Amino acid sequence: MSNNNIQIFDTTLRDGEQVPGCKLNSEQKVVIAEQLDLLGVDVIEAGFPVSSPGDFESVNAISKIVKNATVCGLTRAVENDIKVAAESLQYAKRPRIHTGIGTSDSHILHKFKSNRDAIIERAFDAVKYAKSFVEDVEFYAEDAGRTENEYLARVCEAAIKAGATVLNIPDTTGYCLPSEYGAKINYLKENVKGIEKAILSCHCHNDLGLATANSIEGVINGARQIECTINGIGERAGNTALEEVVMVLKQHPYLNLDTNVNTSMLYGMSQLVSDSMGIYTQPNKAIVGSNAFAHSSGIHQDGVIKNRETYEIINPVDVGVTESAIVLTARSGRAALAYRAKNVGYELTKLQLDDVYANFLRFADQKKEINDSDIHQIIETSKVYQ
Ligand code: KIV
Ligand code: ZN
Repeated sequence: MSNNNIQIFDTTLRDGEQVPGCKLNSEQKVVIAEQLDLLGVDVIEAGFPVSSPGDFESVNAISKIVKNATVCGLTRAVENDIKVAAESLQYAKRPRIHTGIGTSDSHILHKFKSNRDAIIERAFDAVKYAKSFVEDVEFYAEDAGRTENEYLARVCEAAIKAGATVLNIPDTTGYCLPSEYGAKINYLKENVKGIEKAILSCHCHNDLGLATANSIEGVINGARQIECTINGIGERAGNTALEEVVMVLKQHPYLNLDTNVNTSMLYGMSQLVSDSMGIYTQPNKAIVGSNAFAHSSGIHQDGVIKNRETYEIINPVDVGVTESAIVLTARSGRAALAYRAKNVGYELTKLQLDDVYANFLRFADQKKEINDSDIHQIIETSKVYQ
């Protein structure tokens, strides 16, 4: 792995599945995991094995079929969680245990009714115990986004001492600004003793719509793994969207950071997750929304028909979308109408186009969108065609 390769840790089946209103059965999870493996993600977080017999079963089944990616199971810093996770991962070619504990004062004082030193001890013990089962142990400091940096560095040092090779720095509540999150990663890179033995991982939530920006700022500042979900699904406002961070890095090659993801599978992957979970994706969702490559106003359509790059920074084919869509509405111009008419078999002269366009506007004022059969009707009922 080059030092500029960003590991993609997909948590669609764990954090993503925590989205309200969603429940996947084990077969659906296996299908999604198989596709994630083909997509080229580096780690698949398959579930939280101790949480239910169903989750245990799914992690176990996924461990058997995944060929390339590391398969990961989440635990709390609790011995039984870790033992159960190890058991569920027993068939994985590359198993990882992801264990951790809350580190912000709010977690320490209210959730655990504990103190900072005792939490460090629990973090150390959990990693050490996980290490007795698998080589690959990732530690998470829950609510790291609101944890004071100096203390967070001490927690990370303890986790590394116990054998953690990945340190997950979650902005659990989606609170950080990109500059703050980037500075936190930079602080840890500079101040954690033994940091060269581990990589830092970004795990951001989208409560303020900043999950993608924060993850990108994290890797610019030295993190080498991003935790994310397909379509950005997850608790509350969701997690970092996989398709977004992957395409940000691809479209900004000067950052010199790449991933192993086959981007041409992104659209299909988005559809699979959305259909399986019954969670509809908003039309204007970046990269995979139904409008992400659709153009409806006359000025934009004219620009795109002349040269796609006028209004598109991504070639739709690169993310698995066949072509840009020229959507005909009352705001469309003659260029768009001529283009769509040609696609359904009409080469219009300038005179014909003027006449058909007047007829088109009368139609378009009555309808949200003009489809192919409307185009036939509009043209056949235009003056020059009679
Ligand atoms: O958001 C979070 O803090 C988490 C951890 C459990 C990794 O999902
Ligand atoms: Zn999370």
